Amino acid sequence: MRYISQLIILCLFLTFYSGYAQHTVVSNQISGMANKPAWWKEAVVYQLYPRSFKDSDGDGVGDLKGIISKLDYLKSLGIDAVWLNPIFSSPNDDNGYDISDYRNIMKEFGTMQDFDELLAGLHKRNIKLILDMVLNHSSDEHEWFKQSKSSRTNPYRNYYHWWPEEKGKPTPRYSFFDVNNDAWKYDAATKSYYLHYFSQKQPDLNWENEKLRNEVYDMMKFWLDKGIDGLRMDAFQYAAKDTTWKKYPEGYEKNIIKYYGMGPNLHNYLKEMNKTVIRKYNVMTVAEGAGSTLEDAHALVDEDRNELNMAYHFEIMDIGNDPKGYKLTDLKKTFTKWDNSFADNGWLAIFLANHDVPRMVSKFGNDSPEFRRYSSKLLTTLIMTMRGTPFYFNGDELGMSNIKFDAIEDYRDIATINAYKNIKAKGEDIKAFMDKQKFISRDNTRTPFQWNDTANAGFTTGKPWIKVNPNYKMVNVAAEEKDPDSELSYFKKIVALRKASPVLVYGAYQVFDIENPDVYCYTRSNGKDKMLVILNFSGKAISYSLNKDIDTASAEVLINNYAKAALKQNQIKLLPWQSIVYKIN
Ligand code: NOJ
Repeated sequence: MRYISQLIILCLFLTFYSGYAQHTVVSNQISGMANKPAWWKEAVVYQLYPRSFKDSDGDGVGDLKGIISKLDYLKSLGIDAVWLNPIFSSPNDDNGYDISDYRNIMKEFGTMQDFDELLAGLHKRNIKLILDMVLNHSSDEHEWFKQSKSSRTNPYRNYYHWWPEEKGKPTPRYSFFDVNNDAWKYDAATKSYYLHYFSQKQPDLNWENEKLRNEVYDMMKFWLDKGIDGLRMDAFQYAAKDTTWKKYPEGYEKNIIKYYGMGPNLHNYLKEMNKTVIRKYNVMTVAEGAGSTLEDAHALVDEDRNELNMAYHFEIMDIGNDPKGYKLTDLKKTFTKWDNSFADNGWLAIFLANHDVPRMVSKFGNDSPEFRRYSSKLLTTLIMTMRGTPFYFNGDELGMSNIKFDAIEDYRDIATINAYKNIKAKGEDIKAFMDKQKFISRDNTRTPFQWNDTANAGFTTGKPWIKVNPNYKMVNVAAEEKDPDSELSYFKKIVALRKASPVLVYGAYQVFDIENPDVYCYTRSNGKDKMLVILNFSGKAISYSLNKDIDTASAEVLINNYAKAALKQNQIKLLPWQSIVYKIN
């Protein structure tokens, strides 16, 4: 939670200083490297949260065999690649983002044989596999850390960051998940503190150590040699620390990416990694987090940098975290600002949800029974019609929504649980905290995938590790597969449309009427084809005048989340949360 709230504060800062384009029409021209074709630009990536997807053995936890049993479902979606959250051995302090053995599969998830079968099954269906590389930190149960903490002279000592007690208290550093937000944990055995930006069980690796770097590169090769197709670089922007340990100004934690991100040697490490490992394989790489400026992001992903392929930035994630709502203009300006900046060089990932944020329909749409279906399809339309590689979170294709737990006992996420303890210890407003969690907790997206209307939504025959959203009786794959108007059917249609339309991948983006508070209207064009996207982000019917430069004479509806589209010349009557994509001249 603190992690997320820091990001929200950061966004406000960026929003204030970045100077959004104020023009009515903002356009990106087609030119430069951004249009150089690549499979990873054309792919639709489906993020699959293994812990909650499908349990095959009744222990209440999703597993690889469960995914294997659903390969045909994945194929039916029409997606090109699956990104799996970490599947490596882990004590699960942070659901797999604390790895104790990078070369093995988490026991609850299965075996290496299962992994090989999964990879082969995906490839047989022409689906690529992206793995999550957690390289900023390991688990404290990793052999490296066990060795490292055993003595000050152990050869693994410098695999992590230690501060000897005799130097006094270490310079304060903020931890996202620590109950007291203290990133230094004292270890009595060697009378030293170790650094952990995340939980106490996630010590930060010391990237200054060449031996560590080489071990990591070998490990990466191990997985790439198995034939995986891509890597998602978890929190890697924090990997390079300023080890002079200078004091940061008061309140620095409100602007954490500025202080922790893009450290002194980060680009050297990435260039070395690229040269030693990545370049040797035809794989895609995506950075989680991209610094705090557009320039930071470009430095990671521009083609001539030879570092990573694309990045997802946090600015979109930081919009919509206030239960009272958000301004559509902020969303439009943020997408537009980033698209403009990446029109010529570099590439972005496009997403509205993942396992670290709430469900997209609850956050950016309207999850009431009246509008959930429409708004969820509208958001899917936005993701699938923007420039950039779509990263689509599992369950959103069904219109899954936030679970909104009442009791702290129902939460499983260390971020929520430790923030709760922190608030309680400080005597702050627990009710306000709990209300906010219903809206922002990461557990909202982590509930079991809803397969059908049988017990536990068909996710497990046992007791699920986290409660199933009670709306599974209505929102589930079995019901939606039968319904041609379901969110799932819509998702398949729009993925097919994107796959058949190079203009939706490479075409220039032009936004109209950016100050309109309800309607998001833009075109995508490549000189040959042109598409018009109109999204009514409100629960009211709207009569909307299109910009006179948009030629609708031969407009043809390609996809619509209602049965009707009422366009006459440049006037359109939009129904609540209506989204339409037209082919135009
Ligand atoms: C980002 C991951 O997406 C998140 O789930 C995790 O808690 C942190 N990095 C730490 O690995």
